[in-house]
Amino acid sequence: MQLPPTLLSEEQVSNRVTQIAEEIDALYADTEMLVLIGVLKGSFIFLADLARKLTIPHRVEFIAVSSYGAKESEHADPVRLIMDVRHGIDGQDVLLVEDIVDTGHTLAYLKRLFEAHAPASLRTCTLLHKPDRTEREVDLDFLGFTIPDVWVVGYGLDYAERHRTLPYIGQLPPDMR
Ligand code: PRP
Repeated sequence: MQLPPTLLSEEQVSNRVTQIAEEIDALYADTEMLVLIGVLKGSFIFLADLARKLTIPHRVEFIAVSSYGAKESEHADPVRLIMDVRHGIDGQDVLLVEDIVDTGHTLAYLKRLFEAHAPASLRTCTLLHKPDRTEREVDLDFLGFTIPDVWVVGYGLDYAERHRTLPYIGQLPPDMR
């Protein structure tokens, strides 16, 4: 099988994930229990690696969202929740974990949704950010890499469900789509 060329190597990703874990450990040093909420599917590998590098007490939740189709694109919020957290988050320190922020719609929606559940704090963490694609500005409290507007795969990210488990972040050229 032809492999996509590397945008960020396994080592670059691993080193950056270690640094982000250290930043999170430092900021939440006094937190009793940090709630990490991963957004499926893309975040599952990043969250698994990040969580195992944390030394502070934490628990893991997953949620899933779905985008509306092109027909419904005029919808004010083109995202909806299709799987919720298992346990409540009111009064708790919460960190939303994404693999990538592209237009920003998903994270903007999730921030608004979870703010309504009265957490003690609500912050965001994403491995990748494509600022050229921003349609909704969202504060990114922990950010791995800013990348250009290219199609990225691997480390949780897919193209039509392919390449998700590549150990590095690849850049998918048009002839591989
Ligand atoms: C990706 C990613 C984010 C979202 C970001 O998910 O995991 O959740 O898109 O895009 P946005 O900033 O434009 O809202 P995707 O829809 O590819 O689903 P998947 O994670 O299940 O692959």
